[in-house]
Parts: sequence; C-alpha cells; structure tokens
Amino acid sequence: MICPAGRDGHDPAPLPIMKRVTLLAGLFLSLIACLRADETATVTLHAGQPGAVINRNIYGQFAEHLGHCIYEGIWVGPDSPIPNTRGIRNDVVAALKNLNLPVLRWPGGCFADEYHWKDGIGPREKRPSMYNSHWGGVVENNAFGTHEFMDLVEQLGCEAYICGNVGSGSVQEMMEWVEYMTSDAASPMANLRRANGRDKAWRVKYFGVGNESWGCGGNMSPEFYSDNFKRYNTFVKNYSRDYKIYRIACGANGEDYRWTEEMMATAAKRMDGLSLHWYTLPSGNWAKKGSATEFTEDQWFSTFRNTMKMETLVTKHSAIMDKYDPQKKVGMIIDEWGTWYDVEPGTNPGFLFQQNSLRDALVAAVNFNIFHQHADRVAMTNIAQMVNVLQAMILTDKEKMVLTPTYHIFEMYKVHQDATSLPLDLVTPDYVLGDAKLPAVSASASKDKAGKIHLSLVNINPNTPVTVTCTLDGATAGAVTGRILTAPAMNAHNTFAAPETVKPQSFTGAALSGTTLKVTLPAKSVVVLEI
Ligand code: AHR
Repeated sequence: MICPAGRDGHDPAPLPIMKRVTLLAGLFLSLIACLRADETATVTLHAGQPGAVINRNIYGQFAEHLGHCIYEGIWVGPDSPIPNTRGIRNDVVAALKNLNLPVLRWPGGCFADEYHWKDGIGPREKRPSMYNSHWGGVVENNAFGTHEFMDLVEQLGCEAYICGNVGSGSVQEMMEWVEYMTSDAASPMANLRRANGRDKAWRVKYFGVGNESWGCGGNMSPEFYSDNFKRYNTFVKNYSRDYKIYRIACGANGEDYRWTEEMMATAAKRMDGLSLHWYTLPSGNWAKKGSATEFTEDQWFSTFRNTMKMETLVTKHSAIMDKYDPQKKVGMIIDEWGTWYDVEPGTNPGFLFQQNSLRDALVAAVNFNIFHQHADRVAMTNIAQMVNVLQAMILTDKEKMVLTPTYHIFEMYKVHQDATSLPLDLVTPDYVLGDAKLPAVSASASKDKAGKIHLSLVNINPNTPVTVTCTLDGATAGAVTGRILTAPAMNAHNTFAAPETVKPQSFTGAALSGTTLKVTLPAKSVVVLEI
C-alpha cells in the first residue's frame, strides 16, 4: 500500500524500513488531520424580522426539599458560622443574584404533594416534623417554611412560584395558603401571618396546582386530574388588586401527548400555564442512567441525542395547545428539565447529588436555544435544581461553594432575558459517531432593548471545530465581542479544590466584515457574541 506500482508497471525497489515507518506515520497524521479539519456552518440572521419576546422566566430555577438543596445549600440557620441573612446563605444568594434570577419554584417536586404548609410557620422550635418519603426518608423539621422561602425570594429579588398540594392536601388547605400569603384583609389567615411576624402580604405571582399528578403527585388519569385541577383552582383566589395569580396546571410527562390533549380540551380556559417535564438521561434508562463525570464519547453523544428530544416535545405539545388556544394565551411551563445521572458514589441515592461538567453546560445551552426558538409558547422553565441537586448551578460543602459549568451558561445567556428573539436559518454539519449523527451546531439570537444583538452558538462535536459564516440580514454591525465556555476534556468540571477549571473566557475567534461574521467555534464549546 505504501509502495504503489511504478508508472511503467514494474514493481519499484523496496523502501528501507525506516522510510516505510516515516511514510506510514505521515499517512496516519494526514488521515487524522483530514478527520479533524474544520467543518463549516452557515447562519442567516433575520435581524429585521423580530419574533416573540424571550420571557425572562425561561431562566427560572427550582428548589425542592430534597437532599442538600434547601438545607445546607440555602438554609443554614441564623446561628450558623456560615455568613447568612436570617439563616439564608449570603454566598449562594450573591451568586444567584448575578444570574438575574427571575423566578423560583418551591417546595417541590414530589415533596409538594405531601407538604402541609401549616407545619412550616410559627416559632421554628415548635414546628412539627414530617417524614420526607420521596427523598432519602429523612425527617424534615420544617425549619424552612413559607416565611423563610418568601424571605429568600425577596433577597433574590425574583418572583415566587409556589406549588400547591393536590395529591394529599385538601382544597381548604390550598385556599388558606393562598390567603395566608397574599391577603391584606383583616381575615383569619392574613392575621395568622401577621401573628407570625409578617404584616404585609407577599407577592406570589405563580401558583402550581399540583405536581406530576400523573405520578408521585397522585397517579391520576388526565381526566381525573383535569376535574381536580378545576376544583382546586376555583379556590385559588386573587386577593391583591395589583396583580392576578398566574395558575399553572400540571402537564405532561415527556411524550404523554394525551395528557396535554385532555387538559387543553377540558380546562384550557381556566389555566394560565400548562407544565411539561423532561429530563435528560445519558442512557435513557432510569435503572442505570450513567455517571456525571466518568463517561465515554458514546455517552456524550447519547446525552445530546436525548436532550435534543426537547425540540420535538415542545413542537408537538405546542401543536396540541395551538388547536385549543391559537392565540397562545396559555404558556408552556417546562418547570422541570435538565440532566439526571447516577448519584455520586458514596452519596445518599435519595439526595440526587451529581457533579456537573462541560457536558451539562452544553446541554443547558442547547436547551436555551430550543426555548428561544419557541418563545411564542414557552413562558417559563425551571431547571432542576438550583443547589446541590441534579443539574445544579451551585454545589456547597459546609462553608465552601463552587459554581458549576451550568451556572456559567445561565450567566452568559442572561443577555437573552426579555430580549426579542430573532429568526435564523442554520445549515450545520453533522456530528457523526459510528452510524449515528446529530446536528453539530445549535444557535439562537435576540435583540435587546438597547438594540444589541446577541448570537449564541453551541458546537456539540467534541473533536472538530466548526467555522460558522453568519450573514446579518437587516442589521448593520459596528463591532463584535464575545465570551466562550469550553475546556480540553469533555468531562471537565469544577471542584472545591479547583473551582475555576471551567469558566467563561473572552472570545477572539469572531471577525466582522460588513454584514458577514466569521466565527471559529472550537470543538465542545458555547460562544455568546454581542454584535
Ligand atoms: O426534581 C426531582 C423530582 O423529579 C421532582 O421532585 C419530581 O417532580 C420529578 O419526578
């Protein structure tokens, strides 16, 4: 093979052994170079055709009484040596404020349907305990209740999204909770709140009527839940003159389109939002999901294949919602999403504690690009979960705190909050592994109120850079700046000992010439450009 036949058809003289080795190595290297040569993509950005506004609530968070999310991650108590304000960690609050966190969902999750809010008010030492049956079988002492949650919300400067108990709670209990939190009347529940130290009603803009009522929230059929939704929802009253409570009905589990169909057909007029839950498991198998940091390229690939199903889910559920609600009054609320791995070795399986790597950062960015493109229907999303659980922003260990790669995507992408989405046409090369392939590049763009355009690009191919040529249609550009998140290894992650292994850097790989932007997108990277 390395000694091709001579032009005259005679075999040439055999090459000396060293020369053969050199030739072989040369051939091998050029083969690798050829495999790794930059691929190309094109983006046509229609800056003159504004789409829907990207609701800032798409950048929402979720905090459940699960593992060390609330206790230790957020709540350390007023007597803790860890710096805190009325028991809430200062370092965690400061880090989250930097994300412009718009909305926080609480107290669950599955926990919400066994939570009785009256156990979590009044003097802390007198609050009764309960058994947290879903998450590790721990005893919950109710130290963090309504007052503490609303204090957190006020410290963060975000909206509250409370999830009510339909599964094991009564209509009266739910009704009284809403009165307790939001009424300024001299009524029994508002007076009880005053007796517990809070005079003014809180603002609770978002209220969920049950969680996963098809599963941990009561194993209901869509018909049974729809009736229950209507019944409970009737008693979620508006006590404030300043705003109306936005009521969120429990929506489908992934591909359960029948659930959406039934809810929209029978209850669309009574809800403001309908939820959807979708988790990304590398293996797609709940019994053996895969590790957060010890994974092969096959698992990298399957993680993206599974997370990209979000596009199909949003499209198909939206189509059903469009049938009953063509004016798109009902928002799609994806109030649980993100990666779900096997727990870190040696940790409580019920605490759902997992590390967070560059792979998670790219997963978050790909999902945001999907949500932006569906900004006309997707009104809120809440990644699961904010601290120490599943795809977290922040990991804590006693007084230590580390920001995850996912945190950095929320920070880099915050420029899209409340900006107007811009349509784009993307032609991307494939990321091929074996006989399977995925689109390598994902993108979204928006224009903010100051007129700045932000273009976010992701290259999920862990081996090959992509050169993106972007044509700006309907905009003139003066300059381009950007930031990038990448790392040498697919599983690069931040630890308490090395907290800055994965962090955003300024990006110099974009060049503007007239209305054409050329971007060299490194392998496994996320770039956010400001144009
Ligand atoms: O986020 C963890 C759990 O996942 C939630 O409690 C539940 O709603 C879902 O199944």
